[in-house]
Amino acid sequence: MAEHRRVEMAEALALGPGWRHACHVLLYAPDPRMLFGRIPQRYAVLMQMRFDGRLGFPGGFVDAQDASLEDGLNRELREELGEAASAFRVERADYRSSHAAGRPRVVAHFYAKGLTLEQLEAVEAGAPRAKDHGLEVLGLVRVPLYALRDGVGGLPAFLENSFIGAAREQLLEALQDLGLVAPDLLSSLKTPAGH
Ligand code: APR
Ligand code: MG
Repeated sequence: MAEHRRVEMAEALALGPGWRHACHVLLYAPDPRMLFGRIPQRYAVLMQMRFDGRLGFPGGFVDAQDASLEDGLNRELREELGEAASAFRVERADYRSSHAAGRPRVVAHFYAKGLTLEQLEAVEAGAPRAKDHGLEVLGLVRVPLYALRDGVGGLPAFLENSFIGAAREQLLEALQDLGLVAPDLLSSLKTPAGH
């Protein structure tokens, strides 16, 4: 879904039966550790390598059997992340934005949920035993939230990967709005060196 436009939740819910709904979530937790003893990790932010070779967020299609968007999302999380995802529930209060794409007709709802570091590490530890591991999910990754001294390694290089749907914009917006990354790093991304 290369072309996607931002829509309000109310508009998304009013789309006809020809539209499928999907939900994905950014899970994060504070991480006080330092890389190489000097680079603050700030937060652990989870993404996943998908079956299609792109990076995205855990989640997926909401089915007719799901009572709500969030029920579908929490079911997908148990399938993709395993039992540790049962320790928390992503709610409508965690909702952030929606994007609609034309061919096929999919509207993707995006959420962000703060966990304790223990909850997030339990997700990471249990993920290889999840139903979808090695199939739809090839592995969880943490997002580097810093730039190395060369100005490229870290978040700038991470953002050069291929992302599914609106995942790259969703990531950047959440990092900014939730204050997960230093503001000067985000502004430096918007101003490429030499410009
Ligand atoms: N932003 C926007 N759209 C996204 C995002 C995102 N961050 N992540 C995924 N999508 C789109 C995908 O392109 C797909 O069209 O949402 C739809 C569902 O998301 P997936 O996580 O890929 O779906 P999932 O339910 O986990 O199933 C994966 O299994 O049943 C098959 O064919 C089905 O391709 C699907 C696959
Ligand atoms: Mg999925």
